[in-house]
Parts: sequence; C-alpha cells; structure tokens
Amino acid sequence: MKYAIVTGGARGLGLGIVTALLDEVVVDEVAVIDRELAPPPAAIAGHVEGFQADVTDERSVHDAVEAVARRFGAHPDVLCNNAGGGERAWFESGRQNRWDSVETWRKYVDLNLNSVYIVCREVVPRMRAGAAICNTSSIAGILPSPFLAAYAAAKAGVISYTKTLALQLGPAGIRVNAVAPGLIYTRVWENLGAAMGGGDSKARATFEAAVHQMVPLRREQTAQDIGRTTSWLCSERANNVTGQIISVDGGITLGRPAGE
Ligand SMILES: NC(=O)c1ccc[n+]([C@@H]2O[C@H](COP(=O)([O-])OP(=O)(O)OC[C@H]3O[C@@H](n4cnc5c(N)ncnc54)[C@H](O)[C@@H]3O)[C@@H](O)[C@H]2O)c1
Repeated sequence: MKYAIVTGGARGLGLGIVTALLDEVVVDEVAVIDRELAPPPAAIAGHVEGFQADVTDERSVHDAVEAVARRFGAHPDVLCNNAGGGERAWFESGRQNRWDSVETWRKYVDLNLNSVYIVCREVVPRMRAGAAICNTSSIAGILPSPFLAAYAAAKAGVISYTKTLALQLGPAGIRVNAVAPGLIYTRVWENLGAAMGGGDSKARATFEAAVHQMVPLRREQTAQDIGRTTSWLCSERANNVTGQIISVDGGITLGRPAGE
C-alpha cells in the first residue's frame, strides 16, 4: 500500500492533487494535512483521511505526521507541499501600500516558504528510496508582481529550496520537483480578485481580465491541470526527473500574448 501526504489538500489545488494521485493510482491512500478540514468528494472519500494541523507550526506538524504514520505506515511514498496562499487582509494591504508591515511579510513567508521546510524536516527522514516530493510554487515566484512582493519572494524561495533538496536527496533516491501554477479561481483568487478589483462582486471579473491579459492560451487553469502535473511528477513515469519546476500556466511565463 502506497500513500501520500498532501498539505492544504482539503480544497482548491490541493484537492485537485489528491484526486489526481488517486485517479492515476500513483498512491492508494492520501493523508490530507490541513488547517481547515472539509469532507472529500464521495468518489474518493474511502481513500482520504484528514489530519488537522497548521503547517507553520512545528509542534502541530509533528503531531499530525506522527498520527499519519500510525494510521498509514512509517514510510510515506509521496509528499505534496501545497498549503499556502494568503489572506484577504494581506492582499489588501499590498494593494494599498508597497511597504507591507513586517508582520504581514513574515506571515506570507511563514505560510508559503517556512511551512515547506517545517513539513519536509518532519516527513523526509521517514521516506525511502523511490519516494517523491512535489512543492506548489507559483508563477509569482518566476515573474515579479508589483503588489505581491512577499508572496513572490516566498514562492521564489520554494523554487530554490526545491532544487537544493533535490541535490541533497538525489543520492538517497528521492526525487523533488515543483509546479508553478498560473491562474486558478480558488479561494485565493476570490480574495485576491476582490482586493484588486474593489469588492467581492468584482473578484471574478478581475480574474477573467487577468486571464485575458496574461495567458497566451487565453484560458484559466484548473485544479485538475495542477493535480495531473503534480501526480505525474510524483509517479514512476517521471523517475528520472528531479529538481525541475514545471509551470502550468497556459504560457504566462513566456511573456505577453500576441494581440488579437
Ligand atoms: N489559485 C491560484 O491561482 C494559485 C496560483 C499559483 C499558486 N497557488 C498556490 O497553490 C496552493 C493552493 O492554493 P489554492 O489556490 O488552492 O488556495 P485555497 O485557499 O483554495 O487552498 C489552500 C488550502 O491550504 C489550507 N491552508 C492554508 N493555510 C494553512 C495552514 N497554515 N496550515 C494548514 N493548511 C493551510 C487551506 O485550509 C486550504 O485548504 C498555494 O500554495 C498557493 O499559493 C495558487
């Protein structure tokens, strides 16, 4: 029996990752570690179990991973560090003032970068040769954004740490990669779109305008898109791929699309 640990797997991209890992039989069971658990969809409910924890808190992560190991076994086969994003108040503060408070900066880095280290430090020593890790970075870690300075810096840190960890773990036969998602309408974008557009009613239109301006393929990305790429990176089909960052962004990181 193979199992994965997926942080932030209760909804959004994390749920897309959980679903793809199971659909594509990369693993048989998934332990979701999330601050706010939600019932999984019926089709996968029998193979998913939630463990409540805050990924920014070492003690909380330790207790959750111990509970996961008791339930599913001592050696996780796959780890997806996906929990991250930001809160509405953080996005609003960055929109209004390029100088975030130091407290807000620290919260972004804690949630998006330090959490990856905290979870890896707890989980990786339990992994054996053949295991795989995939971190969720962002196009923001590749392309700077004028009002997401701390988020972008943290996601760039995830890219750097992915490569370092791949070097460190290569000789042990453990692969480490990352996905850099583009624009997906999850709770993150409901909050970001509202902060950018001036209210909840403008969130979706703001998101669609960003898709139109930024995406050469002219369509939004989905949790399924991110799940499928993450699942491939964690599967044996990618067994010679490590230290790579795959953008799943409809071409955003190529540059501005050609005009109509
Ligand atoms: N939505 C996008 O367009 C987009 C683009 C690029 C990268 N990302 C990244 O994808 C990842 C998932 O984001 P999403 O869009 O699905 O957002 P989301 O808000 O829908 O899901 C995030 C999940 O992480 C959990 N979480 C948040 N803080 C946590 C904490 N401290 N401890 C444990 N769990 C926590 C939430 O409860 C939630 O289930 C994030 O790392 C985000 O930065 C998202």
